[in-house]
Amino acid sequence: MKDHRTRVYDDVLDMLSSEENPTPLLRLKAIVPFAQAKVYGKLEWYNPFGAIKDRVAANMIHDAEAKGLIGSGQKLVEPTSGNTGLGLAMMANERKYSLSTPLSKAIPFEKRVMLRFFGAEVEELDDTLCPAPGAPEGAIARALDKAAKPEFHMLNQYDNEANFEAHIKTTGPEIWRQTEGKVTHFVAALGTCGTVTGNGRYLKSKNPDIKIIGVHPAEGHDIPGVRSLRQLKQTKLFHPEEYDQLVEVSNREAFDMCLRLNREACVIAGPSSGLAFAGMLKAVTDAPNAVIVVMFPDNIFKYASSIEKHFPQYRAARHGGTPTGGPSAKEQMMDMLLDNAKNTRTTCEFGHVKQAIAEPNLDMVIIDVRSAEQYAAKHVPSAINIPLAELAERKDALPVDHDTPIVTVCNLGIMSLKGLLILQSLGYGNVKSMNGGTSAWVDVGLPTE
Ligand SMILES: Cc1ncc(COP(=O)(O)O)c(C=O)c1O
Repeated sequence: MKDHRTRVYDDVLDMLSSEENPTPLLRLKAIVPFAQAKVYGKLEWYNPFGAIKDRVAANMIHDAEAKGLIGSGQKLVEPTSGNTGLGLAMMANERKYSLSTPLSKAIPFEKRVMLRFFGAEVEELDDTLCPAPGAPEGAIARALDKAAKPEFHMLNQYDNEANFEAHIKTTGPEIWRQTEGKVTHFVAALGTCGTVTGNGRYLKSKNPDIKIIGVHPAEGHDIPGVRSLRQLKQTKLFHPEEYDQLVEVSNREAFDMCLRLNREACVIAGPSSGLAFAGMLKAVTDAPNAVIVVMFPDNIFKYASSIEKHFPQYRAARHGGTPTGGPSAKEQMMDMLLDNAKNTRTTCEFGHVKQAIAEPNLDMVIIDVRSAEQYAAKHVPSAINIPLAELAERKDALPVDHDTPIVTVCNLGIMSLKGLLILQSLGYGNVKSMNGGTSAWVDVGLPTE
C-alpha cells in the first residue's frame, strides 16, 4: 500500500520524496524583509531518514544496483560528512548491505553516534569537516584504500552523477509543480554541489531565466555539510559556470540566521539552512513576481554540540558537572581558541609563503609541525620540522627574536593553528598558520622537498 493522500505506507522506501510525495514548501513571512517577493523554505527533514541526502543515497544505490555494480550482501564504503552516511546506513539496513564510513572527527558527535546507532562501521580520522580529497590520511584516502578491495564498493557522492540526478528526478520536479512553474530563484548551500547542479539543470530546462544561487561559507567555517570556495574547487560536481551567482556567508551570520529561523519563523532548520537563507538575503532583492525557493537540508536536532559551541549561553548542565559524551570543557575551550584563531591576522594563504620563499630577505621561518615521518615524505621548501608535541620544549630551535615572522604548516591547516597558539603563548608576536596545509600546497602544484 502506498497512498500519499492518507500517508499510509507498507514500505519505508515508498516514503522517499517524489513529485507525488514532495517535501513541504513553507512560505516564510516573519523573517523576510520583502514586501512583494515570496520566499519559501523547502523542508528536507521530511525525507524518511531525516535529510536531503536520503534522495541521493537512494538514487546512488538504485543506480548501482541497476548497473549491476552492487548486489546481495554488498559491503559499501563511503567518506561522508554525515547526512549521506545516515541515508546510506538506512538504505543499507533496508537492503541487508553493510556500510563502512571513514569520516572526520570534526563532524558533530551527534552524527557520529547516530551513524553507529544505525549500524554503520565508523572510523574517525583527523580530517577537515568536509573530507579533503588530497589528505593522505583523510576520509577520502581511507575510503579509496578500502574500495580497492574487491568485496567493497564506493558510491562516491563527490563524483557520482546519480548524486545530482536524484535532484533532476525528484527535487526539481517537486519545486516546479509546487510553485506552479512560477519559481524565479533557487538558492542552495554548497557541499558536494549535487543539490545546486541537479536542481539548476532541471529548473533551467523548464525556464532558463530562473536564477540559480549557490551559497558557500567563508574559509575556516565549521558548518557541517558545506564547503568554502577553496574546498569547492576540489569537488567534481561544482559547475560554477552553470550558476548565476555565488554568495559567501560567514560562520556567525549562518548560525545567527539559524537561530532566527528557529525562533522567529518557527522552523526547526539546521545550520546550513541558516547559511542558505542568509545568502539569499544578500543575493536577492525584492521584486513583484519573485518566487524564491531556499533549500533547508536538515533540521537542528543533530547539531546540539554546534549550538553549544556557537551559543555558549544555551549550554546544558551535565551530570556531576562533567560532560557525558559531548566535548569536555577543555576541548570546548580548545575549539573556541582554534575558532578564534581562524582569522586573517593569524592565518595566511599559500601565496604568502610562496612569496617568502622567493624573497629570503623577509627572514620568515616556516615551521612544519607534523611528525618527522610526514615531514620526511613531503614538505614545503625550506620549512624546518618541529612536531607539535615538541614545540614548547624545543626553544633552542625557535628564533631568538620574538618578532621574527613565523608561519606554521601542517597537513590541512588544523594542527598548524595549534602550533600558532603555542608559539603565541611563548611570546612570539608575528605568527601565522597556513590555510589548507601541505595538501593545499600540493593540490595547486607547488613544489615540495
Ligand atoms: C546539512 C547539509 N547541508 C548542505 C549540504 C550540501 O548539499 P550538496 O552536497 O548537495 O551540495 C549537505 C550535504 O551533505 C548537508 O549535509
